[in-house]
Amino acid sequence: MNKHNTLVVVGAQWGDEGKGKITDYFSQTTNLVVRFSGGDNAGHQIHFNGKKHKVRITPSGIFNKNVVNIIGNGCVVNLEQLIEEIELVKKTSPEIGTLLVSNRAQIVLPYHMQIDAAQEEERGEQKIGTTKRGIGPAYQDKVSRSGIRIGDLADPDFKAKFLKIYTHQQKLLKAMYNIEINDFEKTHSNLIKCYDYIKDYVVDCGEYIESAIKEGKKVLFEGAQGAMLDIDHGTYPFVTSSNCSASNVATGTGISFKYIDTVLGVVKAYSTRVGAGGFPTELVNEIRDGIRERGNEYGANTKRPRRVGWLDAVALKYAIRTSGIDKIFITLLDVLSGVDEIKICNKYLLNDREIQTVPPTTGEYEKCIAQYLTLPGWTEDITQISSFDQLPQNAKNYLKMIEKVCEVDIIGFSVGPDRKQTVTLQEVF
Ligand code: GDP
Ligand code: IMO
Ligand code: MG
Repeated sequence: MNKHNTLVVVGAQWGDEGKGKITDYFSQTTNLVVRFSGGDNAGHQIHFNGKKHKVRITPSGIFNKNVVNIIGNGCVVNLEQLIEEIELVKKTSPEIGTLLVSNRAQIVLPYHMQIDAAQEEERGEQKIGTTKRGIGPAYQDKVSRSGIRIGDLADPDFKAKFLKIYTHQQKLLKAMYNIEINDFEKTHSNLIKCYDYIKDYVVDCGEYIESAIKEGKKVLFEGAQGAMLDIDHGTYPFVTSSNCSASNVATGTGISFKYIDTVLGVVKAYSTRVGAGGFPTELVNEIRDGIRERGNEYGANTKRPRRVGWLDAVALKYAIRTSGIDKIFITLLDVLSGVDEIKICNKYLLNDREIQTVPPTTGEYEKCIAQYLTLPGWTEDITQISSFDQLPQNAKNYLKMIEKVCEVDIIGFSVGPDRKQTVTLQEVF
């Protein structure tokens, strides 16, 4: 029995697991949806009433009028992008929730994007394949204590403080990369213009969320990216620059970790990855091409074709441990219809030794050879089914095998992008 009516929704693989769809689904009966990490490197597609919607930094509960959506202090926010998204949701969604943003959230500035691009260029062959949204440099500035927080924009001395930081960045960029950054006055006035737009949304987010939890409201914490992209526990350095695992909910929102009841991991029925880095179950054949086309596996943000592989239970078990995942939700199950034989990786071979966890270094991870269990596939179209019983026997067997190998309960599965193409098996929230 849940003590506090809280649920954390996180990606359990390399991102793009369908967190946006699952968050939107639960938002229909939730009071608050809170993003706790990342920025507009995320891209979530959400389908309902025959229309496709997209958000990057706005929480995925925004399409429900009764939901208060909060961007937590653990996020880095590109204000122009945020405003663009709010305007788009107002135009395209039949209803819109309330939006709030933490006064402690960091701001992604235009020079962060320039630095991101310059760093990637400098990495050459070792390129991470970032989204170039300035996320890494914004977190770098946060940690080096030269970032700008949303609350700073209300400070009467802000302009003088910003000039100091700006001048430093200007010198650094010129010296390091021979890059000119935008004119100071223009950057400053643009920031103030953005602040005027969002100032009524600014809130002390920890205080707000704690009161809501104490009043018994339902609070969903929405993760971005995925466990394997976590800055500490992911496949470093081919990761993002924040802790996207559930452990960061407390720090990224300003509440105590004691308020977290249940962590739900969203798991694609196979694996995908965008950007560089080890991927032991990667497929480079026509099975990959079929999955990519049926699953529309192209980045929501960058349109890059996603790398595709079999479900990796070694990585998933590792994510279950590092994110404290209690239950999982399987997405894109329909995409596997028509695949003759489906594989689940249940161990790796590293230097001829069997291992069942993710090694810490890139060198070792890239040497891991996936070992598989093989299950017969199914051919039926499952996009219209609405219960476990209606699934073909081999699809049932596949889900049961995932539960067995990963020692975790599946509490629902998704058979298409639409809100309605969602089947729940257990109530969690
Ligand atoms: P997120 O970043 O984790 O929210 O995931 P993305 O939105 O980037 O990528 C998931 C993609 O899969 C989106 O295009 C969704 O519309 C789509 N999707 C989600 N669930 C399903 C499903 O069950 N079946 C199919 N075919 N597509 C799905
Ligand atoms: P959602 O929330 C998939 C990947 C990038 C790159 C690495 C670092 O939609 O699941 P960054 O721009 O964060 O510095 O890039 O992380 N990446 C994602 N991959 N889904 C995401 O978000 C991602 N956000 C970042 O491709 O490999
Ligand atoms: Mg995505």
